Formats: sequence, structure tokens, C-alpha cells
Amino acid sequence: MKPIQMVDLVSQYERIKPEIDAALFKAIYGSQYINGPEVKSFQQNLANYLGVKRVIACANGTDALQIALMALELPSDSEVIVPAFNYVATVEVIALLGFKPVFVDVDPDTFSLLPEQVLKAITPKTRVIMPVHLFGQCAPMSEIMSIASRHKLWVVEDTAQAIGSTYQIEPFKDQKAGTIGHIGTTSFFPSKNLGCMGDGGAIYTNDEELADRMAMIAGHGQKQKYQYERVGVNSRLDTLQAALLDVKLRYLDGYIAARRKASAYYREQLSSLDRFKLPYEHPRSTHVYHQFTITLLQGERAPLLQKLQEEGIPTMIYYPSPLHLQKAYAYLGYKKGDFPVSEQLSETVFSLPMHTELGEDQLQFICEKMKELT
Ligand SMILES: Cc1ncc(COP(=O)(O)O)c(C=O)c1O
Repeated sequence: MKPIQMVDLVSQYERIKPEIDAALFKAIYGSQYINGPEVKSFQQNLANYLGVKRVIACANGTDALQIALMALELPSDSEVIVPAFNYVATVEVIALLGFKPVFVDVDPDTFSLLPEQVLKAITPKTRVIMPVHLFGQCAPMSEIMSIASRHKLWVVEDTAQAIGSTYQIEPFKDQKAGTIGHIGTTSFFPSKNLGCMGDGGAIYTNDEELADRMAMIAGHGQKQKYQYERVGVNSRLDTLQAALLDVKLRYLDGYIAARRKASAYYREQLSSLDRFKLPYEHPRSTHVYHQFTITLLQGERAPLLQKLQEEGIPTMIYYPSPLHLQKAYAYLGYKKGDFPVSEQLSETVFSLPMHTELGEDQLQFICEKMKELT
């Protein structure tokens, strides 16, 4: 049995090495390393895959969020609603741009922000809701979009962990994550479901005006070369990364299927263990299993993870502290007890190895040890 890893990027590369190598060498010899034709091709192919009008590639998923917020031209005292149980990127860019992050608690089943909490958090200064499709499953977009339209708010979806998942926005109408709100963003961080060999990100929208604005912001705010129409940033996806991503995009649905197969194995083997709550699948969203995140219902987490580690089974805790209790965001004035579900999840969740290359022998070993240790 191969050693078990949280992600196995080398094995994934080796499966399609000739195609990736050819694409990279073509880009190297094309020598347009910045904004080369591969970037345009990838943007168009990703737009087709997502069913969205425009995709703007950029340097990483955090920049994607920042550029999206900059394009909305918000008043300086704006409040932006985000989940407290979350990766830091959304909150960081809200704060960096001088807006106020307003946290809400999450659903203990889906780990996504709760619509009723969003409603309670709305004030006259609220301008944006940022749902984060955590671990590979969509936030409740129907409810979020109806709240947003009633209160005239923007919706920026962070799909860094859920690219390719779909949400049933109305009966018989599925849409890809990130194409339901006004803007969607993603990350191509290597371990993501569609990952490159470095940093990368993208922004998507059906709104041509917003798309033009975001493309301009990502390119130093230039309309034409050396004509700066607005304050921008320098955020580009390298041509080499785009060449690689264009190849991998063709395999994304296969990658998702492999993740779903591994998760089905875990589910079949572990569902009888009372100590664990396995990931919930919302009937309106497909789950693309960026993570297979278990909630521990009984017993201590640290010794269990230690024993798994000793058996050669790595695990990760996403996320060990909710954002409202982090030092950097203490200035917002939140305290322990404000978001009990987020706090409880931070103490009880852990993620098992999840990637496209998990062999049945590895999955069997992991499940056997999980059973032995409970
Ligand atoms: C939910 C979420 N949002 C945003 C990001 C930021 O992406 P990047 O690391 O490419 O800046 C990540 C990356 O880990 C993420 O998981």
C-alpha cells in the first residue's frame, strides 16, 4: 500500500503527464508568460464549463474575493455578512478594504451560513452577503438570493472549495456553484479540486459591466496601457498555470467522481459508528467532497487523531478556531458564545484524507483503523 497522504498531487499528475508536459512545453516555447493565449483559452473553457458569461483569471482565490468586492463600488461604511466558521480569506479582504465583516453562525449539518442568521444580521449598512460553499457543498443559495433581492444586497459566492458542484435553484434547474450570485470566485491552490502547480484564482459573473470592471481592476485599473481609470491591483494567472489548468479542467468531472467514490466508501464503512457524524448531503446541492469532514459526537478529538497519525493516517482540522475568536478580528468586538455552532464545530470536526488518487486498499485501511479506535 502506498503511504496515505491528505492529497496526492504527484500521482494525479502522473496519470496525465504527457498531456500536461506537452501543454507546459508549448507555453514555454510560446514565451508569452504573462497573459498568453493559454490564459484566454482557459478563461473561455472555464466559462463554458460553468455556464457563465465571463471568467476573469487572477493570481489567487483571495485576490479574486478582493477584486470582486472592489468592483462593487461600495460605500466606505459598508457591512458584509460572512460565516464565522470559515477560511480567513473572505473576512480578510472585507477588513483590508475598510469594510466591516459581520459574522453569522452556520448550520451544523451543512457548515454553511444560516439564512435566518443572515436576516438577523442585516442593518441599513449591509451591502453584501458572502456565502462560502464549504468543503464542497453549496450554501442555501435559494434562500440567500431571495433575502438579497428583498434587501437589495450583492451576493459574492466563494467557491474555492466547491468548483463543479451544482445547486438546484428551482425544480429541474441546476446551476453551477458561483454562477447564482452576482459574482463567484475560486482558488486554484494545488490541493483544490481544480488545482494548479502554484497559486491561481478566478472570478466569474454573468454581468458584463461587472466583468469589465473586474478585468480592469485585476490589471492595475488600466483601460488601455498606461491609462489608469481606477485604482487597481496586479493580479494575473501565469500563462504556465493556465496551460496546466486548461488540461486539468477536462478531467474535473472525473476528479469529482473519484472524490465522490472515495466518500461513498467512507460512508458505507463508517456510518454505523455512533461516535461520528458523517458529512450531510443537502438534497439541493451536489457535494464535490473537497473535504470529507467528520464531526466527533463523543470522546476526545486530539487522542483519536494522534492514534490515527501513529497508524500512518493523516488528518486535518479545518478549522481549529472560528474567525470571530481570532486575535486579528478581536477589534470587531465578538466574544466566545456569540456563534455556538461555529465554536462547537471548531472543537469537534476533523477531515480524513480525500483526493482523487485514494486506492481501495488505503480506504479500507483507514476505515479499519477508524473502527478499531472507536
Ligand atoms: C474557502 C476559501 N476561500 C478562499 C481561499 C483563498 O484562496 P487562495 O489560497 O488561492 O488565496 C481558500 C483557500 O484555501 C478557501 O478555502
